[in-house]
Amino acid sequence: MFSNARGCKFIFTFPMGQKKLIRFAAIETFENVLQRPKNMAGNWYQYFKNDNPITLELACGKGEYSVGLGEMHSDRNFVGVDIKGNRIYIGAKRALEKDLGNVAFLRAQIDMLTEYFGKQEVSEIWIIFPDPFLREGKAKKRLTHARFLKLYQQILIPGGRVQLKTDSRELYEFTHEVIKEQNCHIVEDIEDIYAKGKAEGALAIQTHYEGLHLADGRTIYYLSFQLPETPIVPPVKAKKEQEDELKGA
Ligand SMILES: C[S@@+](CC[C@H](N)C(=O)[O-])C[C@H]1O[C@@H](n2cnc3c(N)ncnc32)[C@H](O)[C@@H]1O
Repeated sequence: MFSNARGCKFIFTFPMGQKKLIRFAAIETFENVLQRPKNMAGNWYQYFKNDNPITLELACGKGEYSVGLGEMHSDRNFVGVDIKGNRIYIGAKRALEKDLGNVAFLRAQIDMLTEYFGKQEVSEIWIIFPDPFLREGKAKKRLTHARFLKLYQQILIPGGRVQLKTDSRELYEFTHEVIKEQNCHIVEDIEDIYAKGKAEGALAIQTHYEGLHLADGRTIYYLSFQLPETPIVPPVKAKKEQEDELKGA
């Protein structure tokens, strides 16, 4: 807040683009942010200086889960993954302020996860309010599509859980279909975590998008499942999907 010569108060804000540039410059200097790093697969124990189990928060945005779980479990490591540097900035700054050495952020495409994590290097995956990509032609971008489960299978320990929190009934139902097709094992399935009184422990952590959805009166779904021992086989592309790809949709 500033005052001018007549004592009128006003708030100075950066234009949106400039704020993003400042955040991009800041994360370059943050020791807990890795941006498309080389040679990390199999080497996270060197970064964390221990071989504690690693949990991933995919589509982490501002990283509320990585920071929240990092505070709850000092004996585990957490890596928030998102492509948006200006969102990661918020979580990384919070983790630094709280001195959480067990929390890091990876700025990368989730599609490239196997470049950054080695076989069985990850113990658990949270997927928090990912974009539901509702158009049928975009289904393969959904983070619970078999294409992604195949990636997760390459880095997760056997029995490692994949946990989805979403406000999208469509994504929740789609994930159920994939789980069935791919013979995954459901550990927990909650259709409305608040109505069922299940918003406790890790499920009590609220993210930016969750706050917006709750204010809108939306239902929050949770699904926890384990991948099968047999390899995940993504379905052959549907004709429409192939046509959309050719058109660059
Ligand atoms: C709807 S926001 C949710 C953010 C946060 N989890 C929350 O609940 O507030 C979805 C996030 O997923 C990220 N995202 C979506 N697809 C991605 C991909 N393939 N690779 C990396 N990030 C992705 C977006 O950048 C965005 O920050």
